[in-house]
Parts: sequence; C-alpha cells; structure tokens
Amino acid sequence: MHVEVKKFQTKKETYEYLNQQLTLQVKDIQNDIANMANASALIYLLLDDLNWAGFYLMKDGALALGPFQGKPAVVDIAVGAGVCGTCAVEGKTQIVEDVHSCCNHIACDISSASEIVIPMYKAGRLVGVLDIDSPYPARFDQEDKAGLETFVDILMKYIF
Ligand code: SME
Repeated sequence: MHVEVKKFQTKKETYEYLNQQLTLQVKDIQNDIANMANASALIYLLLDDLNWAGFYLMKDGALALGPFQGKPAVVDIAVGAGVCGTCAVEGKTQIVEDVHSCCNHIACDISSASEIVIPMYKAGRLVGVLDIDSPYPARFDQEDKAGLETFVDILMKYIF
C-alpha cells in the first residue's frame, strides 16, 4: 500500500502519523512476517536519523533476527546479552544514549551511536523486541519511547 512520506515539526505528530500508517498497513493482513517487514519499513521511512530498525523474535529460548531494514545484523542474541537481551530480561524499554559507553551492547554496525529497544508481549508472554539504532548519540528520548510503545501495542493487536 502506498505511503506518503510526510515530515512533521514535532515527534508527537510524527508518531501519530507513523502509528496511523501502521494500522493501515497491517489491519487487514494475516501474515506476521509481512506485517513486521512493513512495520520496520515504515519506521525506517518515516523516522529521521536511523541506521537500523527491526525485530528480534523469541525462538528456542533466545532472540533470533526477524524482519528489518538496515545492514545485515547478528542473527542470535542470548537472553541477557546486549541491549536486546537486557530488554528481554527486564521486560521494559531500554534507551541507550551512547552505545560506546554502554557495557552491554552488541555492535552490529560501527556507525550506531544510540539505540532504543521495546519489548513485545502477547497475552503476557514476551514474543520478541523491536530494536532501533541511530548514528547520532542520544537520538531517542521519552517521546520516542511513548510513540514506539504505542507502535508495538498496535502491531501486537494484529500479529501472533
Ligand atoms: N545492538 C543490539 C544488537 C542488534 S543490532 O543493533 C541490530 C544489542 O546490543 O542487543
């Protein structure tokens, strides 16, 4: 489905538009992989200053690479390892302002400087995480957290 690339002055408006577009893309499609692929494409298209956006999904007790946009990435992440694995253990959104000073970060792309990881729950069970990287330090704040947690809430209504 065609998506118009609109840019807004505020993060609030940006996330309202992103989340509206997500609903339009996924609401009538019963295909989890396709929906996560389009969800990562929307993030990459509509949010500025990113170099990776995608999913790691729980598989056999670890996180496995799912649909994404960006450079090829590490395939398996143990629960507890890296920012994604920490998110899986703690079950809450992780914001890392400077990945180079973060003791528990797995580098996929050396140009990444900051990162946000949002947990994905279905019926109380962790099914994966949404991971987004930026080449700029401190790219993600509480407004991004709120907007992306809503994004994940919407997506989880339609997948799994
Ligand atoms: N940085 C992540 C690994 C995945 S890549 O960023 C795509 C982490 O520390 O878990």
